[in-house]
Amino acid sequence: MTTSFEDRILNERAKMRGNVQALKSRVADNARGAQSRAILEKTLAYESTGHLDFALFPSPPVIDHGKGARLYDVDGNEYVDLHAGFTVNVLGHAHDEVNQAMKDQMDKLNHFAELPVESRAELARLIAERHPGDFASKVMWCVTGGEAIEICMKLSRWYTGKPILLTHWGDYHGRTAGAMALTSKAFMMAYSYPIPPMDTSIVRIPFPYCYRCPFGKEYPACDLFCADQVEKMFESKETWLNNPKAGITNVAAMIIEPFQSSAGYILAPLPYLKRMKEIAEKYDFLFVCDEVQNGMGRTGKLWAIEHAGVAPDLIAMAKSLCNGLPLAAVSGRAEVMDSWGPGAHSSTFTAYPTACAGGVKLFEIFERDNIIQGAAEKGAYFLNGLQDLAKRHPSIGDIHGLGLYLSIELVMDRKTKQPAGDATGFAHGELVKEGVLCISSGYLYNRLCFAPPLVITRDDIDQALAALDRVLAKTEQKFGIGK
Ligand SMILES: Cc1ncc(COP(=O)(O)O)c(C=O)c1O
Repeated sequence: MTTSFEDRILNERAKMRGNVQALKSRVADNARGAQSRAILEKTLAYESTGHLDFALFPSPPVIDHGKGARLYDVDGNEYVDLHAGFTVNVLGHAHDEVNQAMKDQMDKLNHFAELPVESRAELARLIAERHPGDFASKVMWCVTGGEAIEICMKLSRWYTGKPILLTHWGDYHGRTAGAMALTSKAFMMAYSYPIPPMDTSIVRIPFPYCYRCPFGKEYPACDLFCADQVEKMFESKETWLNNPKAGITNVAAMIIEPFQSSAGYILAPLPYLKRMKEIAEKYDFLFVCDEVQNGMGRTGKLWAIEHAGVAPDLIAMAKSLCNGLPLAAVSGRAEVMDSWGPGAHSSTFTAYPTACAGGVKLFEIFERDNIIQGAAEKGAYFLNGLQDLAKRHPSIGDIHGLGLYLSIELVMDRKTKQPAGDATGFAHGELVKEGVLCISSGYLYNRLCFAPPLVITRDDIDQALAALDRVLAKTEQKFGIGK
């Protein structure tokens, strides 16, 4: 027997409705000062409750300005930025050179239709030439990460003439209708009620979240049991993916986040990624990487997938492309890119000239200032600091990190791995009070993720680690962790 009609249809969903009064109380209790409070009250008066800000923080900080990896709110509070606007601000805030390049372009030509301009052609060259692999690559422009994913979905199906897209549990690909269908997030489906985001040809497979292996195995002793299961799906005609006897594969592409973002900065083992590419080659479908959040040098290589020595057919990119304006793209095999004709995809602000000018300058600075190598070095320093914290903080159950893409998972008990979801929410709020902004997420709401601008300094990292040390001590005491 299931729950009553009212529970299923009304009461369950009522828990997810916007409640302006409750948000106002959160602001009253947690705003960082009078100016912040006034702006948040105006926000609540005039903006829909459906925005992300109150999902991220009890009372969102109201940022006034920033410089490098530091942010300042309207009440004058200072923060170390370990968030970077979900990795958008890769070169930090108010970057003089990038901003100047964008201003110059804006003064010349801001926007006209979607027609080619010099900065766009040059940025396409820079991106295409850096696509991993020994094949010719090209670029297709768009405006958001979600749209880049839509392009990958459409183009993979167009090019292969096949329907099925493989995606992993925990992957986040955006909130446009197609990308939402590809994303495994329960609340996104709930908000589409009564019609879920639909795409009847999407197949979800477990992600190698090794700390909580979906198959109950231990890595590396498991010998990639999970990858074997994926391969098994192709060996049988009974799984929909493949007809081995006829030699027909129904799969157009696997679209994968090499290192999962919104699921809590979870790194897939590199041999797993290699195996997925091998399976794609064997069964003749495209291997597509969503690098919207983990790409652009953050992990110590331009693209995260490069750590696995794999050349994806397509890469979706967005956030960090120009340090702040909406700009997104797909790069990949020229043969695939040129398989569709003019006008196959478009949106009005595609390859916005001002954004492209910023992107060209960004690549110049990346190379001149060894930004990617710096991310690897500073990331190693940060990781070392987290490992040090884990020695005295029993709440840290797991640490992931590659370059400046780092996370910790909080548990009530290291042996049982009982997730410390409430404690994580508390720690995240306390970090704001301590002047540190970071991302809180995770399959079980119990991971803190750190993605600072790549220009962060060691002093900034030390300050953030010291704050985390104090906050974890307070959290462990409040929640009785390690008692
Ligand atoms: C991995 C990943 N893919 C796709 C998206 C969607 O990008 P956008 O919000 O620009 O549509 C995001 C955004 O957070 C992301 O992190």
